[in-house]
Amino acid sequence: MSETPSPLPLTIAVDGPAAAGKGTLARRLAEALGLAHLDSGALYRAVGLAVLNAGGDPSDEPAAAAAAASLDTGRLSDPALRAPEAGEAASRVAAFPSVREALLEFQRRFARTPPDGRRGAAIDGRDIGTVVCPDAPVKIFVTAGLDERARRRFAELQAAGTDVIYAAVLSELEARDGRDSSRAVAPLKPAEDAAILDTSRLDAEAAFRAALDIVAQRAPGWRSLVQDVR
Ligand code: DC
Repeated sequence: MSETPSPLPLTIAVDGPAAAGKGTLARRLAEALGLAHLDSGALYRAVGLAVLNAGGDPSDEPAAAAAAASLDTGRLSDPALRAPEAGEAASRVAAFPSVREALLEFQRRFARTPPDGRRGAAIDGRDIGTVVCPDAPVKIFVTAGLDERARRRFAELQAAGTDVIYAAVLSELEARDGRDSSRAVAPLKPAEDAAILDTSRLDAEAAFRAALDIVAQRAPGWRSLVQDVR
């Protein structure tokens, strides 16, 4: 007899370093399982970009905190957020506790009451499993080697028509890894109970299948739905 999906909202926390494939993975999981998807990095990118657009410095805490407090969360799919400058600015504003605090409740509310009556949410970021949703039943820490991540980000930027050089992408990612991992608040690190998914040798499809296995193991009420998706 097949089990019915859990009536409890399912939260899937997908964390990891830049360009590890967590966004693609979280989006696919959300689509397949009927969950809402939130790219929490877009929140930090939007704050960083708002500071830049106002002529400010993303390393200036009062400016970053003011931008976070008045953030328009309805514009998170703006393509300008994908630009390397927005990622760089995001990584700077994300180090400030006041910015993180201002964005926390929005993310928690999204997980608790996902939009459009969805039965749960897949949220990707750096601290979803450790800080935003520490009780999420499914936590996946997606990682990949630095060279592989730089190669993917380079290809992505090229495909979007951005004029970039590989060495610059590599050093920008390395600097961002350093900043995201060493900051005092909510640093990038796997939650103790996260499943580690190394995608260095996996394409998007293989990573998706491996993630479905993790969901089935950790959220038994969702097993039959996972089986239908497979
Ligand atoms: O995932 P991304 O590249 O869009 O994230 C941009 C920056 O935002 C990243 O360098 C660190 C920060 N960030 C964060 O501190 N916490 C999150 N939950 C998501 C992103």
